[in-house]
Amino acid sequence: MLTGMRIVLTGGAGYIATHVAVELCAMGHDPILVDDLSNSCRTAVSRVETIVGRPLPFIELDVRDTEGLNAVFARHTPEAVIHFAGLKAVGESVAQPVRYYDTNINSTLSLLSAMASAGVRKLIFSSSATVYGDPEALPLTEESRVGVGITNPYGWTKFMIEQILRDTAQADPTWEISLLRYFNPVGAHESGLIGEDPTGIPNNLMPFVAQVATGRRDHVNVFGDDYDTADGTGVRDYIHVTDLACGHVAALEHLRPGVSTHNLGTGHGTSVLELIHAFEQACGAPIPYQVAPRRPGDLASLYCSPTRARADLGWVATKTVLDACRDSWRWQSGNPHGYADAQLA
Ligand code: NAD
Ligand code: WQD
Repeated sequence: MLTGMRIVLTGGAGYIATHVAVELCAMGHDPILVDDLSNSCRTAVSRVETIVGRPLPFIELDVRDTEGLNAVFARHTPEAVIHFAGLKAVGESVAQPVRYYDTNINSTLSLLSAMASAGVRKLIFSSSATVYGDPEALPLTEESRVGVGITNPYGWTKFMIEQILRDTAQADPTWEISLLRYFNPVGAHESGLIGEDPTGIPNNLMPFVAQVATGRRDHVNVFGDDYDTADGTGVRDYIHVTDLACGHVAALEHLRPGVSTHNLGTGHGTSVLELIHAFEQACGAPIPYQVAPRRPGDLASLYCSPTRARADLGWVATKTVLDACRDSWRWQSGNPHGYADAQLA
């Protein structure tokens, strides 16, 4: 088992990276967090430090600043990188395509340049189920068709970055690259100290439900109840963020020359109504909801086959949607306005 690796986490103050930093520390690794704080805050890093019981290097930097990254690599001499940094709001990407292409693509190109200069060739990339577009069949395997039916610039950036990384490894087979396609990350660390803290109105279901549970919003809009699913609402593969984080540790241990691709999901679909009812169970109160029109671009069902991740990485998701709701509730009820509560305190 690998231990004591220095690993740069771009986007290191964000939702998923903070949970990955905790699991990396638990396995004896040394994360170095790099983030421009465009969608996160320093308090998130302090909370990670509280959980792991030691200070962690944090560098406030836009990853597109290659000179700045070169300095980070010279100072911290990392052996691997996990690249989380980027913009992720699907609707916003339709309204601001150039900003999304610039941030997501150029941050990756800048990172590849800095890594090549420093001789670091181990890279894990935060990809997404969005690359599968409109699926031909479920469950989605890594062999499923990609690219057909991607409906937004955010999704295209993930598709394009995967291709850039494949081309990079093709040109220089000493690169060891892992593409991790996340399904729907949800939940929070069991301590309740870190979790998802969206700015403005949440785009995603779970943080929206959590804000209704605390009374910050009055009801959930259920986007469509006439899909071809058991209860008519959309079905997704919700994966607890701690399981997802452990998937990164497993991927790090199994990096090999070339490119590998893995789905990180549970293999189980949960409907919008099932998730709302699980949250009601977790918080012990009803969650008001209203059926609203379908959201443009949404699909009825999406879930993966996690078989390859189990076979190659020895990784499986172990937590349930109810676990995720409980942890999300602990985070949200303890921090009703997210990290802003700590900043005001
Ligand atoms: P997040 O917004 O919480 O984290 C991303 C972090 O990147 C933020 O802290 C932000 O400040 C930082 N960042 C953005 N642009 C930057 C730049 N130019 N330089 C440095 N830092 C920058 O989002 P997240 O949910 O933690 O997602 C992490 C990664 O996982 C993203 O690449 C996202 O696309 C991908 N992903 C997320 C989901 C999801 O549902 N959350 C699903 C699939 C894939
Ligand atoms: C889940 C279900 C909605 C909000 C998105 C991105 C994807 C990935 C994960 C990054 C759907 C329904 C939602 C609400 C609702 N991100 N819903 N009311 O759309 O599966 O995936 O996040 O890579 O690329 O597209 O996640 O949480 O937005 O929606 O009824 O207020 O909840 O219709 O069925 P989605 P989501």
